[in-house]
Amino acid sequence: MNGRELAGSLKQKLRLPVMAGPMFIASTADLVIAQCHAGIIGSMPALNPRSTAALDDDVARIAASVGDRPYAINLVAHASNSRLQADLEVVLKYKVPIVVLALAANGDLVKELQAGGSLVFQDVIKNRHAQKCAEMGVDGIIAVGAGAGGHTGDLSPFALMQEIREWWDGLLILSGCIANGRSVLAAEVLGADLAYVGSPFLASSEANTQPGFKQMIVDGAAADIVTTNCFTGVNANFLRPSVRENGLDPANLVRAVGKTINIDSGGDEARAWKEIWSAGQGIGAVKRSEPAGDYIDWLCADYAAARAAMGMSA
Ligand SMILES: Cc1cc2nc3c(=O)[nH]c(=O)nc-3n(C[C@H](O)[C@H](O)[C@H](O)COP(=O)(O)O)c2cc1C
Repeated sequence: MNGRELAGSLKQKLRLPVMAGPMFIASTADLVIAQCHAGIIGSMPALNPRSTAALDDDVARIAASVGDRPYAINLVAHASNSRLQADLEVVLKYKVPIVVLALAANGDLVKELQAGGSLVFQDVIKNRHAQKCAEMGVDGIIAVGAGAGGHTGDLSPFALMQEIREWWDGLLILSGCIANGRSVLAAEVLGADLAYVGSPFLASSEANTQPGFKQMIVDGAAADIVTTNCFTGVNANFLRPSVRENGLDPANLVRAVGKTINIDSGGDEARAWKEIWSAGQGIGAVKRSEPAGDYIDWLCADYAAARAAMGMSA
């Protein structure tokens, strides 16, 4: 199947051209199930369940609930992830439809997953990374632009999409600050097959986020987001009020020197994500904490309104 056929066949199964971004700690099996039933691709990181056995239980529950609706599991392919091999076996056991690889993925892992029946997507923040992913044979590239929640890119989505679409005819997904219908449509206009939506789901009832975190998403806007490499060694976006609540001055965060990423649950990095809350610049569109399905219903209606405003068919 070529890239266009793959995009078409995935979109046929969706109500909206949207995939949920997996979010460390926050995404739960209940959230994935709600996202899939509401008509988008649901996703969660393999590391969110406490153990590989808990991941097995969660994936079994998701697979039984969603039927042939596509969902994704995010695997961190980094040396510091001691669960990688065991989690990979769970993914292969259930033939998880989509695997999103993060960090240091390699061609052998891509091939192993594809041989097991999964589509493999990888996120990138630069055209050069996208070219490497294409060489590894991934099925889909997720272009993460500036302003995204979690580890962010720093390029304008206009530049990033233009450079990647020039040579990549495969499945392309745009990530970063997409939170309303106009933005989903704009991502398609830029050449994306799907829009990747993360931060709005932090406020959803099914997310494993503290009530104060949900409220900060509802109350927040782009001006409340600060970009820093201070906590993880690479640039990520955080909610300024939560940085302050942890006794730090968002204007004077000290740059991490030589800090390496440590993905193992329970490490410093896990503590940073748990106590200092990450979100992207698109959160101004989030007006309430509600079930994910209600937000997706609204997003569908807002997308239809955006298409109508542009004189496009429903
Ligand atoms: C709190 C938080 C945690 C995240 N954790 C992960 C993760 O574990 N793996 C991953 O691939 N992306 C992660 N992301 C990135 C999202 O999957 C997605 O790319 C991003 O949220 C999209 O930008 P947006 O938040 O502006 O919608 C995280 C994002 C947030 C906000």
